[in-house]
Amino acid sequence: MQITFSDAVPADIRLVTRIAWKDADAGLPQHLAFGAKSSRFTGKVGQVFEYWSEGGSEGQRNALLGGGAKDAKTVAVNLEKAGAALTVKFLTSGEKALAIDLTDSGVTAAGAAALLMGARLRGWRMDQYRTTQKEEQKKTLTAITVVGAPAGTEAAWADSAAVAAGVEFTRELVTEPANVIYPASFVERCKKRLDGMGVEFVILEEKDMEELGMGALLGVGQGSRKDSKILAMRWKGETSATKPTAFVGKGVTFDTGGISIKPGAGMEDMKFDMGGAGAVAGTMLALAGRKAKADIVGVVGLVENMPDGDAQRPGDVVKSMDGQTIEVINTDAEGRLVLCDALCWTQKTYEPAAVVDLATLTGAIIISLGHEHAGCFSNDDDLSDKLIAAGKSTGDKLWRMPIGPAYDKLIDSPIADIRNVGPRGAGSITAAQFLHRFIKKGTPWAHLDIAGTVWTDKPGATWDKGASGFGVRVLDQYVRDVLEA
Ligand code: BES
Ligand code: ZN
Ligand code: ZN
Repeated sequence: MQITFSDAVPADIRLVTRIAWKDADAGLPQHLAFGAKSSRFTGKVGQVFEYWSEGGSEGQRNALLGGGAKDAKTVAVNLEKAGAALTVKFLTSGEKALAIDLTDSGVTAAGAAALLMGARLRGWRMDQYRTTQKEEQKKTLTAITVVGAPAGTEAAWADSAAVAAGVEFTRELVTEPANVIYPASFVERCKKRLDGMGVEFVILEEKDMEELGMGALLGVGQGSRKDSKILAMRWKGETSATKPTAFVGKGVTFDTGGISIKPGAGMEDMKFDMGGAGAVAGTMLALAGRKAKADIVGVVGLVENMPDGDAQRPGDVVKSMDGQTIEVINTDAEGRLVLCDALCWTQKTYEPAAVVDLATLTGAIIISLGHEHAGCFSNDDDLSDKLIAAGKSTGDKLWRMPIGPAYDKLIDSPIADIRNVGPRGAGSITAAQFLHRFIKKGTPWAHLDIAGTVWTDKPGATWDKGASGFGVRVLDQYVRDVLEA
């Protein structure tokens, strides 16, 4: 969605939208006020009342957009929802462009930016693989012009637009099929998208990882023809911080389960098993795009988990970078094997002030929390409180889950230091507990299990069904609240 600002409605735009606050007089002529009322339009968040008026040779198309109560504490949240509703209404309407006239609307610059954020995010979809779409299914709306924006809107939007670009990049990576996005092409896509933005790249190839002793990550990729990789992206903005904060993502570009192969039904979903890595890449794009005043390193462990004559077997023992030995009971519990080496390397290389990892780690988190919240596991109350607060304010909701020594015991192995699965119960917690064994004492760490939130079967507040882009907004907000404050 292209968003521009103008003093007056451009002559070639036929559709003009205005905000109407809940139960407030929208200043309409009597017949339209009656029309709105009989259409049950009250200005409730996201309601749209459409009407035509005279003007030009074709007449003018108008829409009133419900903004909710004008003095609501949640006005920005409401306006974001309203923007999304506006896009939904007109995305395939035949109109290529619309104007939002904010003159005398009472919307603030921050409110306008929120409105645009909703409009832009809800308009994202990936159509490049559809070649036979009917005319009426095709997206037409690609541009929004804001008229009469309050002072400061353009700057506020420039900042939000960077975050929107990050969310969209994550969605793109997650939506792409696994024959298009595999470890090497993931790296290339990131390099291309972040090119010239001042992000420093480090790429580890398999031979580098062998030298570093990353037997756990390499074991997962062993059955794939695609080479495994680690990609680190560092954004060092203007900051007095002496240590970076690290975001680490699980990037299993396809998870068949390996020799512990998954059932066929629904396996296609496992293209989104790189959603953690996708969120980290999108966050780096957002931070670099808005020149965040923070030092952040994003590290992604990229592998494809395939069954093959070379694939690792259940019962194999592998050694991680920090020397711990792992009994691989189930080759489908591969995310933790990828992450443990990525986490060790990140801590050793960057000595981060804090580490947050994101991973589509367990189906069990969907049993616990459904698709509404991601699980948040942490050894540090302050870090997890701040992440949860950042999630609340952006809509990437997190829910704290427990960890502790009693769960840790469940992943002891009779033959090695640790096994990669526990008993049936508490599957998400034992997975988190596994990762915790690879975190250096004293390093604040949080693990976000996003298996239930990266992909949705139904449209949500600012996303269509499919990839949500979960993770980017919460991490970006955490950086704002904690590192840039
Ligand atoms: N990628 C899956 C987790 C997953 C499941 C993500 C469903 C999204 C939707 C992960 O690698 C996995 O297979 N985990 C196993 C662990 C089990 C073998 C202990 C699981 O959740 O079943
Ligand atoms: Zn798996
Ligand atoms: Zn997986």
